[in-house]
Amino acid sequence: MNDTAIEQLLQQHFSIDALQQAPAPLQQALRMLGGWLAAGRDTPYPHTPYAELIPRLSAIRPPTHGMAVTDFLQELDSTVLANTAQLNHPRYIGHMTQALPWVSVLAEAFTAALNQNQVKIETAYVSTLIEKQILGWLHRQVYQHDDSVYTQAMAATSGALGNVVNGGTMGNLTALAVALEHQLPGTRKRGLFATMQESGYGGLAVIGSARSHYSVKKALATLGLGEAALHLVPVDRDNRIDITALESTIASLKARNIKVVAMIGIAGTTETGAIDPLAAMAHIAARENIWFHVDAAWGGALLIAEQYRHLYDGIALADSVVIDGHKLLWVPMAQSMVLFKHSASLNLLKHNANYILRDNSGDLGQTSLEGSRRFDTLKLWASFKVLGVSGYTTLLEQAATLSGQLQALLAEQSDFELITRSDTFILTYRYVPVHLRQRMAELLSDGQTEAATALNQQLNTLNAKLQNRQKAEGHSFVSRTVLESTPYPGPTNVLRVVMSNVQTRPHHLRAILDEQRAIGQALVAELGL
Ligand SMILES: Cc1ncc(COP(=O)(O)O)c(C=O)c1O
Repeated sequence: MNDTAIEQLLQQHFSIDALQQAPAPLQQALRMLGGWLAAGRDTPYPHTPYAELIPRLSAIRPPTHGMAVTDFLQELDSTVLANTAQLNHPRYIGHMTQALPWVSVLAEAFTAALNQNQVKIETAYVSTLIEKQILGWLHRQVYQHDDSVYTQAMAATSGALGNVVNGGTMGNLTALAVALEHQLPGTRKRGLFATMQESGYGGLAVIGSARSHYSVKKALATLGLGEAALHLVPVDRDNRIDITALESTIASLKARNIKVVAMIGIAGTTETGAIDPLAAMAHIAARENIWFHVDAAWGGALLIAEQYRHLYDGIALADSVVIDGHKLLWVPMAQSMVLFKHSASLNLLKHNANYILRDNSGDLGQTSLEGSRRFDTLKLWASFKVLGVSGYTTLLEQAATLSGQLQALLAEQSDFELITRSDTFILTYRYVPVHLRQRMAELLSDGQTEAATALNQQLNTLNAKLQNRQKAEGHSFVSRTVLESTPYPGPTNVLRVVMSNVQTRPHHLRAILDEQRAIGQALVAELGL
């Protein structure tokens, strides 16, 4: 290596002086970001077909020589920014990742620049405390312990109120890892095989509703229980776990000498936003000595606004709770928290090492399943500081308003039918042309279940094709899922919307329904329905 080459590289790419003297790349980057965040494009999806992008990105070797940063920014603009799914577009209402306050995006830049590693205080000085403060704020919303608990937790060098994790998936895994060690002590060191042999149990189970998020299966596979250890309990018409069915699942597992390690309440469910009857579940879990975990990855953030607390009655009885910041706290991915009622719980995962994470060091990495971790709480800290609880409350209220507006709009249409509504802003509905709706009503009232099931399958095809075509056309986006707990006979395909996109207004909703109606009418003709 010659000295000039390294000097040049350092000067161009590491020296901040150069950037400060010639800030053109920064200004260019800011313009690009600003344009993107303003949802400036016409449609949520780019018009370049995905298949055409493949050859553009198929170079199989990295470039030998670097390019000027400004040229790279142009390529970033034309290749990446022009071809993203624009999730913050006002007509993109299909998933949980949507428009963001720009201060949280700015905070991300600081997270990258500061590059703190949350694993230990040596590499994450004050950011250790910010992470603890955020965990305390959220923990307080869930568990409402005395103030002293939160002041003490800031200085504590052992135990923890929770972990900041990469997402709800990691949160569920962490909670279930703690639950397993709690219910079957020694598993962590000696393995599941040894502790099971000693326990005398015929098997292990985790119970959740049929609406459980698939991350629970991933966790069970990872922890060695196997996906089959998840016992799914049917839901009622409101997509909440059926308590009678839950009791009989527990009774039958007990009769087979199967130990129920954990029970999972959902608040709210990914598909429909429903909140399980948490208080009733907590009562059963306590009676049966089952770890009670609440997956509030989606809905938990509502607890920061007082008016939604009543929906979560019983959550404070949960042993652990997951809340995603990158969902209803409007921060960029990834940011999530898993909280524990007792700060000692996380000691069940405690790791020490000689060169770092010394016992009682207060290093956050002691109780985390992950190793090196970003300073991901900075963006949430920034949003809380800048928006405040009142700002967040306004955002949540806007989501509730929009959700109400879509329900009202759907009620006015004779060819759309609301299937589920929820307090956490997720709705499902269906396109059902009037003549098919009438036919279905007649078949059901005549008790012709087989013909009604067949018609329902046709409606399934119609709605699935509708959603696919709408996605392909790219003017707007809603998602879809299959529910079994509807007034229709058999599995029912529904269109699913998440009303937390704060860029969306009623005229966007009307445009989406008009577009769906046009596609639906064309499909009815094509399918000969
Ligand atoms: C209820 C629920 N739990 C867990 C998860 C997984 O979260 P993540 O995608 O952040 O890992 C999701 C994601 O949608 C969810 O809705």
